[in-house]
Amino acid sequence: MFESKSGILLIGGIGFFLFAFLSNALVPILLYRHLPEQTVEELADNQNLIYQFEDLKNRYPEQFEKYYGEANQENLTKALRLGSHIYTGEGCWHCHSQFIRPVSNESSRWGKVASSDEFQNELQRPVMWGTRRVGPDLSREGGRRGNDWHAVHFFNPQSLSPRSPMPKYAWFYDDNDPSKPNERGLAIITYVQWLGSWLEEYPDYEDYQPLEDQMRNPLE
Ligand code: HEC
Repeated sequence: MFESKSGILLIGGIGFFLFAFLSNALVPILLYRHLPEQTVEELADNQNLIYQFEDLKNRYPEQFEKYYGEANQENLTKALRLGSHIYTGEGCWHCHSQFIRPVSNESSRWGKVASSDEFQNELQRPVMWGTRRVGPDLSREGGRRGNDWHAVHFFNPQSLSPRSPMPKYAWFYDDNDPSKPNERGLAIITYVQWLGSWLEEYPDYEDYQPLEDQMRNPLE
C-alpha cells in the first residue's frame, strides 16, 4: 500500500492534513479553553493605562478636549481601537515586533519573555508579531517613555534619534505642530502606552530577572 500512488496520496494528503488540523487547531483550542479573548473594554480597565490617558489630557488639554472630551473609559476604549487601526494601517509592524523571544538574551533588552496569554485579546487581531525588527520590539513600550517624548518622536524621530530611519508622521498633528497631536496622534500614543501595561509592573530596565525565571511555563 505504501508504494502505490493511492497510498502516498492517502498519507500525504489526508494524513498530513489531519495532523496539521490536530496540532494547529484542536490542540490550541483545548489549551486555551479557559482563557476567553479579552475585549478592548476589558483591556481599558487598567490603572497604568488610565494614568497615561489622564496624563495626555493634562499635557494637551485643548487638543484632548477637542477630540476626546473626558478622560473616561469610553473614550479610552475609542482611542485604543483607533490606535490599533493606525498601527496596522501605517505598517508600523514592518519595522517593529511585538514578541519577545526566549533566545539571544532578548529579555535583557526588552523585559519579560512573551507568553501566549498576552495575545489573547481583540487588539491582537490580526496578531501584531511583526515581520522585521528595523526598530526595537515594542511589546514592553508602555511607561518606558513619557507621552511628550512620543509626541515629539512621532513628529520627527530624527530630532531624538539622529540616525533613525523611522518616518515622520506629520498627519498625527494639527497645524504641523508637535505640541498639537490630533485624534490620530493621541490615539497612537495611547496605543503604545498600552503595550505591556497589562504586566503587574513595568519592566525595570536596570535590574532584570534571571532568564530561567522568565521562561517558566505561562500556564503554570
Ligand atoms: C522604517 C522603519 C520604521 C517604521 C515604519 C516605524 N518605526 Fe518606530 N522606530 C524605528 C527605529 C529604527 C526606531 C529606533 C530609533 C528611534 O528612536 O527613532 C524606532 C523607534 C520607535 C519607538 C521608540 C522606542 C523606544 O522606546 O526607544 C516607538 C514607540 C516607535 N518607534 C513606534 C512606531 C510606530 C507606532 C510606528 C507606526 C506609526 C513606527 N514606529 C514606524 C523604525 C520604524
